[in-house]
Amino acid sequence: MEVHVMPDPRAIGAEAANRFDEVVGGGARVLGLATGSSPDQVYAELVNRHAAFPGAYRACRVFLLDEYVGLPQGHPERYAAVIRRTVTDPLGIPRDRVHAPDVDARDLAAAGERYDEAIAAAGGVDLQLLGVGTNGHIAFNEPGATLARGTHVTRLTDRTRQDNARFFGGRVDAVPRAAMTQGIGTILRARRLLLIATGAAKADAIAGLVSRPADPELPVTALHRHPAVTVLVDPAAASGI
Ligand code: GLP
Repeated sequence: MEVHVMPDPRAIGAEAANRFDEVVGGGARVLGLATGSSPDQVYAELVNRHAAFPGAYRACRVFLLDEYVGLPQGHPERYAAVIRRTVTDPLGIPRDRVHAPDVDARDLAAAGERYDEAIAAAGGVDLQLLGVGTNGHIAFNEPGATLARGTHVTRLTDRTRQDNARFFGGRVDAVPRAAMTQGIGTILRARRLLLIATGAAKADAIAGLVSRPADPELPVTALHRHPAVTVLVDPAAASGI
């Protein structure tokens, strides 16, 4: 696992965009994208570099890590809507090539299996971008999540709902209680993982990642099971290392 401490979120955005350019330039066409605030600078940089001439990006297929369960279609905080707004629409990636777990399905367990099958059918994710929760979650794999799981429905912890209340006008009760998330097993099948973290609230999770072996109580430590992981952090997120 490579860990780089970068001067600030802008530098992380530029370096992460370099990694995307490298894999897409090398022929990769399946990208795994994350939501939350952490990737904002990455997407801003990609849009800045490529919106005018997206070239190969327009031919990419995108799989999201997760999606809330319970938000109506058309809600602006549905992760599929967020990703379209911030990155895939500006890059000209057709909407039918932007995939999120099907949280409107009647049988959510079957929808989770179908999502993993769709990723496999696309050839697997070439580069997966990841953030980390303050409690060490990746995607919505909360503490206690098992390593081998595929895409599934999970309950969100109170802490995660509090952390995400800022996207819902500060109202914790407006944050859904459940989500469908790629499992850690799904995430570990991506060819390369790129984790980004900024700010002091992530310092404990990053310190745990660097110092502990894979431990389900800190899901981000599952990255030790993957052979090609890059971690980009700012000085505040690295302050516990
Ligand atoms: C969210 C997402 C994760 C994200 C994490 C951190 O709830 N499900 O994919 O990495 O929590 O979010 P942020 O970057 O906003 O701190």
